[in-house]
Parts: sequence; structure tokens; C-alpha cells
Amino acid sequence: MWGGRFADGPSAIMREINASIPFDKALWHEDIAASKAHAEMLASQGIVSADDVAAIKRGLDTIAEEFEADGVPENWDLEDIHMTTEARLAELIGSAAGRLHTARSRNDQVATDFKLWVRSAMEAMDAGLRELQRALVARAGEHAASIMPGFTHLQTAQPVTLGHHLMAYYEMLRRDRSRLSDARARLNECPLGSAALAGTGFPIDREMTSEALGFDRPTANSLDAVSDRDFALDYLYCASTTALHLSRLAEEMIIWASQPFGFIRMPDSLSTGSSIMPQKKNPDAAELVRGHAGRVIGCANALMITMKGLPLAYSKDMQDDKPPVFEAASLMTLCIAAMTGMVADSTFNTDRMREAAELGYATATDLADWLVTQADIPFREAHHITGAAVKLAESRNVGLAELPLADLQAIDTRIDERVFEALSVDASVAARASYGGTAPEQVKLQVERAKQAVEQE
Ligand code: ARG
Repeated sequence: MWGGRFADGPSAIMREINASIPFDKALWHEDIAASKAHAEMLASQGIVSADDVAAIKRGLDTIAEEFEADGVPENWDLEDIHMTTEARLAELIGSAAGRLHTARSRNDQVATDFKLWVRSAMEAMDAGLRELQRALVARAGEHAASIMPGFTHLQTAQPVTLGHHLMAYYEMLRRDRSRLSDARARLNECPLGSAALAGTGFPIDREMTSEALGFDRPTANSLDAVSDRDFALDYLYCASTTALHLSRLAEEMIIWASQPFGFIRMPDSLSTGSSIMPQKKNPDAAELVRGHAGRVIGCANALMITMKGLPLAYSKDMQDDKPPVFEAASLMTLCIAAMTGMVADSTFNTDRMREAAELGYATATDLADWLVTQADIPFREAHHITGAAVKLAESRNVGLAELPLADLQAIDTRIDERVFEALSVDASVAARASYGGTAPEQVKLQVERAKQAVEQE
């Protein structure tokens, strides 16, 4: 492609270090689509004859069929998908192929192709997250009133409902999807026509190519357009945050599936056994979701470090933008699908969860609140009285509700028998009916709103 300027060809090592075809062949659909849009624009502007453009478009269709059927050939001499496609076009249609690259550079070409690819990846991730949200909402609806311990510091804090806990993840994914939608909107400006870095002297129509490729408008600055990889970083940040959320859920499910907890049984289809310990059922899929989050975050880190010192405009370092994005995208597809299966098909042991909530003095706050509302005791003092009751119950190895009234009254005479109504875990969750709280009626509202939101789209 640049033989005119060079006396010697590249060394073997140069060809190898330079080649991006082993990975950027994944862009072939986008490369063909962007080339067709460009060719049509060249014809409509009278830059290339209609006959030549017709031949170019037919040739590109043939190449698409070949790539579909046989895969993209990997010849390092052709460096990348752009040169591979153009070289094949020349074989197919002869010299007219040489007119396709008029008013275009691989710099605006690769930026355009890559944006198209990342845009699809954002859409695919969004669709996957929607399925996961549906699974969460369905399970939360089943368990709007199932009681489990809520934790802070992984110590029993207050009873919550399982539905409430699951809906917390729904909310995280709602923000993840909104972040993706912001990123998609920001990405959607077309770099094609920026050429190498400075624009072009040919009378191109950038609005036309932008529209043909589904962009909202052409990019405003050619130097920025060929140097910008923010859209890939945005995608990787979105993926990292989602991976982090999935990892937290995976971690909770791993804890819940452990024998001392026994809160859930993971589906066999997403677990493995041990080759030596016959009793084992390991939550490997959840562990890998947790582990893969590290890799996805590593991909985001890799591209930030690649970009951070680059002068304008294009530098070859930028060829390294694609592997981390491709890696993160395939990890995210797997992790979201695995998590959807785990949420949809795990069995919740609600008896065990309730039992755990009844241990651990989860209703101590309710006793304190009762002292405030029923006996008009200031909260700080009520907290102190409750502490003494917990200490006594602990020394006898019983729950708060199992302490005889006389013993409670020995701690504070203002306590009467109505207190026992407040000490049950059911009363505790039912009382937390503030907006967004864990009371079953509130959880049902959350579930209803969420159902509408995910079904309406
Ligand atoms: N293979 C290159 C990449 O992926 C295409 C752009 C090459 N541009 C250039 N000026 N060498 O980044």
C-alpha cells in the first residue's frame, strides 16, 4: 500500500508486531458497512463514477459473503481488516477498487468501524442486563415478604426481605443501563470524512455518511475524531461498573450457598463437583463472575494507560485499543448470562433465612424504637436499655423475644407486655414502610414499578 516510498519490505518481526488482523478481523461487518456508505457518498458527490461505485459495492457484497462463509483470511502482510478488504476488492474488481480510498484514511476508517462495533456491544450489554433485571424482579416478586437477616459489616443488623435485597441489585443495573445509554448518545458522532487528521479537499458530504451509518451527526473536529477513544473508555468504564455489581452479587450468593449459611442452593447447571470430595457442589460460575470482574477492570486500565501520553493525532499505540474492548465484551456477555441463570434458577431456603434473622438480635433496634414511641424515652437512653437486654439474652443464649417480661422490667420498669409484638422479625420488617424501605408493601411497590419499566421498553 505504500511501496512507492520504500526500498525494502518490512522484516518478519515488523510484519508480526504491526499486524492487527488477528484481532481486528472482528470488525469486518463494520468495515464493509462503512466502506459502502463511503462509496455511495463518493458517487452521489460525483467524486467517483456511478459505474465504479456500483462495481465497488458488488465487490464488497461478495467479500461479505466470503468472510461469512470462510472467515477472514489472516495475512500479516495486509496488516489489518481495512487492507485485507481493500486487497480482496482489487482482486475481485480490478483498478476501480483503488478509488474507494479517495477522501478517506485508515485513521477515520478505523475510528468509524470501531465506534460501530462498540455501539453494538453497548446495545448487547444493555439487552443482557434487561434480562437479568427481569429475573431479579421475578424472584423479588416471589419473595417480597420472605425474611432474611440484613447485614452491615457482614454482622446481622436488621431483618429485611429477600425481595428487598434482590431489588437492590435491580437498582444497580438500572443505573448501569442509564450509564450505557449516556455513553451511547455521546459515542454517536461519525468520524468518517475526517480523513488522516486534517479533513479532505474532496467535496464530500459528511452528513450523508453519518446518517447512512446511524450516527446523529458528523464529528466536529477532524484531529479529535481520529484521536478520540473516549467511546471505548466509556464502554470499558460501564462494563467495569457492571462487572463490579455482578461480582458483589456473586460474592453474596457464594456466601449464601456455603453450608454455615445455607440460604440458597445454586442450580446444578451452574455448579461443579469435586474430583476428590463427593459431597461438594461448588459455585464456580459465581466465583468466575467475581474473578472476571478483575479482568474487565484490567481492560479499562489497559486502554487508559495506552491513551494517556499520546500526542494528536493517530499513533500506532492506538491499534492496541481493540483487544481490551473485545476481551471485556466477551467476558461481560458470559458473566451477565451466568448471573441471569443463577438468579432465575437458584432455590432460596426461606426457612433457614428466617431462622438466621431470628438469631443475632436483629430486632434490637425495634425494641429501642418501641421504647421511644411507646414509653417516650429519648433514643440514646432507649439504645442503652436495649443494649442491657441484648446482653442479658446473650448470657442466657436466647432471643430477645424469649426473655420473660419480668426480666425486661427489671432492666426498665417502663417496658410492658405489648413490647413482644415489636420483637418479631415480621413486625420489624412491616414497620419499615418508609418510601424505599423493606416492608413487604414497599417491596411490592418497587417490584411493580420495575416490572412496568422493564416491560415497557
Ligand atoms: N491497523 C490500524 C489500527 O488498528 C489502522 C489504522 C492505521 N493507520 C495508520 N496511520 N497506520 O489502528
